[in-house]
Amino acid sequence: MNNKVILSGIQPSGTLHIGNYFGAIRQFLELQNTNECYYFIANYHALTTINEARELADNSRMVALDYLALGLDPEKVALFLQADVPEVTELAWILSTVTSMGLLERAHSYKDKTSRGILPSHGLFAYPVLMAADILIYDSEVVPVGKDQKQHLEMTRDIAMRFNNIYGDTLRIPEPMILSDVAVVPGIDGKKMSKSYDNTLEIFCEFKALKKKVMRIVTDSRSLEDPKDPDNSTIIDLFKLFADSKELQTMRDNFFAGGYGYGHAKKELLDKIYSFFEQARDRRNKLENDMEFVEQILRDGANRARARAAEVMKRVRAAVGIEKLI
Ligand code: ADP
Ligand code: TRP
Repeated sequence: MNNKVILSGIQPSGTLHIGNYFGAIRQFLELQNTNECYYFIANYHALTTINEARELADNSRMVALDYLALGLDPEKVALFLQADVPEVTELAWILSTVTSMGLLERAHSYKDKTSRGILPSHGLFAYPVLMAADILIYDSEVVPVGKDQKQHLEMTRDIAMRFNNIYGDTLRIPEPMILSDVAVVPGIDGKKMSKSYDNTLEIFCEFKALKKKVMRIVTDSRSLEDPKDPDNSTIIDLFKLFADSKELQTMRDNFFAGGYGYGHAKKELLDKIYSFFEQARDRRNKLENDMEFVEQILRDGANRARARAAEVMKRVRAAVGIEKLI
């Protein structure tokens, strides 16, 4: 993809795992090279699930740190906190007046989240309207998101079209870009890696803690001498993500040959994961000691995003007849 205005929001919901990296972050990083990217940390949205001020503030900074460490280039991307563009809540209100209850009542994520015990607040119900505002306020063209966000993107398009029908052509209609199902990264139990399943391998994990988790990867009970099946192995499925084709072939051959235990394979996998993120870990350690610098990046990003939002809000206010006298 080239020369598009790309926007995405990231929930500040704790530590990142390698499923997040291969399923989403890697694509975000690729897009920055040939497009105009706006990535923000969705701290207003996070209020629907996090009620601890310190936790929300810390998690938000942590996301910025993690993304910068992993290679997000602040020269190329405007990285910012959602709440640093407060106009987004103004637009959310205006959009809410053209959003039907029926549309929101059909949202899967509200049902999923309330069934998991999250408070069924008005904010949670209106979540898709704020998300539509996030997207529409920057005249975004393409929005890369995981599959679970597809319905939110459809709702955004519905809301924007409804607005344009009522008030005339004002909002740009964005296109979703659904991120790879190519790499569904398995967790240590072999199911999809997810923080809700407690089966994750964290990107920025201490070696010892990572080792403990890698050693827990579930395998069958074949002994060291037995030949093993490389096509049904979580170790191999994970190793694939980090190894080149020769290294992968060698491990597969070892599986077939026998005399090579799961413990050996796990050790190789562990080393691969740890060294793959070595540079990022170093960068993260440096940045962690320079939070002033990280804050400045977020401020610069917000200024760029806000200038863009101001243009769209001018159009929207004029379209609906909201005058600002001061
Ligand atoms: P989690 O399932 O741990 O809560 P999120 O839903 O916060 O993860 O996912 C954030 C992004 O990472 C989404 O774009 C999602 O598609 C991607 N992602 C998460 N887990 C995986 C996985 N196991 N394999 C591939 N992509 C993943
Ligand atoms: N709802 C998204 C998630 O849970 C985060 C998000 C908020 C977002 N606003 C957005 C994503 C706008 C893309 C565009 O992952």
